[in-house]
Amino acid sequence: MYKFVIKGGTKLDGETYVSGSKNASLPILAATIISGKTSKLYNVPEIEDVKTTLKILEELGCKVKKDKNKVIINSKDMNKTKISDELMRKLRSSVIIAGAIIARFKEVQFSYPGGCDIGARPIDLHLKNFRKIGIKIDENTSYIDCKCDKIDTKIIDLDFPSVGATENLILATVLGNHEITITNAAMEPEIVDLANFLNRMGAKVWGAGTNTIKIKGVQTLKEASYTIMPDRIEAGTLLIAAAMTKGRIKLNKVNPEHISPLLHKLVECGCRIIEDRNCIYLYADKNLVSTEIKTMPYPGFPTDLQPLFSTFLTTCKGTSIVTENIFENRFKFMQEIKRMGGKVNIEGKTLIIKGGKKLHGADVESTDLRGGAALVLAGLTAKGITKVDNVKYILRGYENLDKKLNSLGAKITREEKEG
Ligand code: EPZ
Repeated sequence: MYKFVIKGGTKLDGETYVSGSKNASLPILAATIISGKTSKLYNVPEIEDVKTTLKILEELGCKVKKDKNKVIINSKDMNKTKISDELMRKLRSSVIIAGAIIARFKEVQFSYPGGCDIGARPIDLHLKNFRKIGIKIDENTSYIDCKCDKIDTKIIDLDFPSVGATENLILATVLGNHEITITNAAMEPEIVDLANFLNRMGAKVWGAGTNTIKIKGVQTLKEASYTIMPDRIEAGTLLIAAAMTKGRIKLNKVNPEHISPLLHKLVECGCRIIEDRNCIYLYADKNLVSTEIKTMPYPGFPTDLQPLFSTFLTTCKGTSIVTENIFENRFKFMQEIKRMGGKVNIEGKTLIIKGGKKLHGADVESTDLRGGAALVLAGLTAKGITKVDNVKYILRGYENLDKKLNSLGAKITREEKEG
């Protein structure tokens, strides 16, 4: 594996594009299990989390063909219902594959997904919803064993608009003779993408993107082709990178609507932004000032952009306040930013950032996906050289991040690690 070596100080200036969405790809790949037929997916990002999900599908007996961003999955010969412990630990969000397996096979066995560096990542809401629709769950062994003869028609009110729990419930209920209504559902755009793909296969899912989603079970799903939506978190990451270096960028293949909270905040800090149908221009050519953000479920400010935006705020004059309301431990990367000279105080779920002083380069370590990307962005503005270790976290969710930033003028090289 290698480290990123970043020579700070250049203003980003140029044009690049956004790849397909990681967080839409994962539930849509899971959904290909349900039809037992062939699904053709386009604009699938070439990232580690997608590779791991494809490995799980192959382990379950699906035939997978991949040609760059095109993936063809034939789930006809799928013959297993147990997700291996090793792969569950590698990719905790594979818990949503459980819903897809139950839909088709009426049973599934999987282990508790591991937590990660941003929090415990429990799945209690997933299991509670499964039980409510009639799925019998045995948690006594090291595996969670789910069986279900039939799904009951029900209205399920979610305790919290959990993205994964909403997706799992939709996946588990697309086949059958029932009607499910989900209230207080998550409204993220990735759920709309999942519903669009399921309906393309012949499912009946209404209301995705609102807090009330209705699913009417159908008897079978058919072959379908689908193009994955752009990755709104990568889009935000690239815009913030341009803003941090007081540069400018034209970002193509993006849906501005998906990141409007971020765009409003970047304007509040002094950036100039022009939105077009599927591209965004950003100019950050003057002194930027502090602001305040609070992360919320969609359509609020996304928790996934909090690490990137918090790092950006270290370069904005004045005191900024960041409140992280979604995950309990999403400030860990800030220890590394402090080592680069960032003036940051952590008080529970709040960050107090005294911005404006330039960061200096340092040897830093990624501990999670978005925190790792934040360290790369910090290196772009820092004086001197920054070396970012454990880039494996970053490669989980970003397709060619260093290449895209270098195409905008960044100076990032890869240094092989000894041993
Ligand atoms: C999805 O995770 C995303 N991952 C996350 O992106 C994103 O941060 C998150 O949604 C929120 O937007 C994928 O889509 C693969 P949640 P998910 O269930 O589904 C608690 C990234 O960087 N909770 O909405 O796991 C949970 O602990 C990743 O791309 C329970 O308590 O998020 C968290 O505090 C990180 N019990 C909160 O809800 C449950 O059963 C939000 O979690 C489920 C969740």
